[in-house]
Amino acid sequence: MYLTVSPPLSCKTLLYRPAVATSWAEGLGQVLCCDSGRTALGIALRLLHLPPNSNIVLPGLNCEAVIDTITGANVQIRYYDVPETLDPAIPAIEAAVDNRTACVALVHYFGFAADPTPLRRFCDRRGLPLIEDCAHALFSGGEAGHCGTAGDFAVFSLRKTLPIPNGGAIAVNRAGYRPALREVLLKKPSSVETLARTAFLLMKYHFMQHGRALAAAKRLCPVRANSGGPENQAPAWKALSSVSERILAASEAHAVRAARQTRYRYWADVLRGQRGVRILRPHLAPATCPYSFPVLVDRREELLEELARSGVRLEATFSGAPFLKPGCVPTGQGLPSAARLARELVSLPVHQALPMARLAEIAEKFVSALERRC
Ligand SMILES: Cc1ncc(COP(=O)(O)O)c(C=O)c1O
Repeated sequence: MYLTVSPPLSCKTLLYRPAVATSWAEGLGQVLCCDSGRTALGIALRLLHLPPNSNIVLPGLNCEAVIDTITGANVQIRYYDVPETLDPAIPAIEAAVDNRTACVALVHYFGFAADPTPLRRFCDRRGLPLIEDCAHALFSGGEAGHCGTAGDFAVFSLRKTLPIPNGGAIAVNRAGYRPALREVLLKKPSSVETLARTAFLLMKYHFMQHGRALAAAKRLCPVRANSGGPENQAPAWKALSSVSERILAASEAHAVRAARQTRYRYWADVLRGQRGVRILRPHLAPATCPYSFPVLVDRREELLEELARSGVRLEATFSGAPFLKPGCVPTGQGLPSAARLARELVSLPVHQALPMARLAEIAEKFVSALERRC
């Protein structure tokens, strides 16, 4: 009982079992659930059998867990810049691809579906596999269909959308890679780890409702990348825990999407015309299930510290400059737009479990802090 696979693999082995409600979207290929987005990405890299010295072309605005997973698998990274529209721009990707490129990735940032069609065509012309990073976009779609259906692989971070202690998934859309899935052995997380993650989650909700415990929770249960340092050369693939599996099975995509959209619109109404903040995406498409309400602010750290002192801890998504990490081969003109986004982005919460009263309180403190600095 180590894997959760949907639809069931033809290989009749005790290691595999039919899924619960893992096929949350029409058009996804074979879905395999695991503990996190980074594990799902690690599995994709493993299935790709990338040659030595090859590289993956990745958007410059990215999180450390992704970068550590790729460099931990001994694959190099070449970054492309990310415009404020957050869409993958083919000229920037073309400039990043070289003769060692073995794969290209795109990210559906904050749950907003990027149009994958031009990149899909580009990858097909070049014979390159495409990974769609849907870590923020579990229940999101766009004109081209559900996020995750265009890539050879799609990776999801279930726990970013659902209230579960752990959870990720990989969709293997290209049939040619499916036999290799059978070779992937997943190790179930220990009950201690599951308990620790559950405790972290409960504290996180406490923070959301009462504005306190996140820092303490993070100190108690630091979340680390799966494969990174030399001590971790052979990453253990971790399965979805049964707690998460049950919550995933009971989750209704349309209800989660509707609740998140309500909170998103609340932020849009509150911040429309507000000085000192720039809204990245003022409008929602019906199929968007937002991960957060992303805004840009100057002198972000100062603002976040001030808010933290008043009991509101907000997320500085993609902070830092991951493209300066070892393993990065800077490309073309550098990454001015991604660097700016990484410096200024704040993710305002839209989680379905966030009570509207608490949301109003957070919004009021956020607006007051912005007003004080104008
Ligand atoms: C764009 C993106 N992809 C993948 C991941 C990894 O997901 P997880 O935290 O579930 O490993 C993250 C996490 O921060 C992310 O922001």
